[in-house]
Amino acid sequence: MAEDLTITQSGTKQEQYEALIPQIEALLQGEPDLIANLANIVAALKQQFNWFWVGFYLVKEAQLVLGPFQGPVACTRIEKGRGVCGTSWAEAKTLLVPDVDAFPGHIACSSLSKSEIVVPVFAGENVIGVLDADSSELNEFDETDVKYLEQIVKILQF
Ligand code: SME
Repeated sequence: MAEDLTITQSGTKQEQYEALIPQIEALLQGEPDLIANLANIVAALKQQFNWFWVGFYLVKEAQLVLGPFQGPVACTRIEKGRGVCGTSWAEAKTLLVPDVDAFPGHIACSSLSKSEIVVPVFAGENVIGVLDADSSELNEFDETDVKYLEQIVKILQF
């Protein structure tokens, strides 16, 4: 496994994801430990895109509980159906939030977060967690992020 990433910040967002994804696949190759793999995914995304916050929440009993992340400290537990993360879990779908202030019930872990994307992580039909990325810019995320972040969480195999 290569422990250094080659980060290309020139080029389109699509090109950046296309260069990053094979490296994430290589990082995860042969490693069965979920936490180690989640930690490396968020580290790789932070290095590539330098978003304000990126991390996983994991379903534990009836809540989402904070998992590996990069960025400032964050809320540790989120109820199903609450906030962007809890809604993504309840609806089992990716949510793009161009302006967090316009999302009813958004949970503000930081007032610096302006836009957000949350992608569910599936084990079969079940949502076992979510990947959450927050930006300090409005409208940071779009369909390109949806497509590639959904691909990235599928690299995790259950
Ligand atoms: N904003 C999220 C909470 C998690 S933090 O952004 C890290 C939400 O509304 O679910």
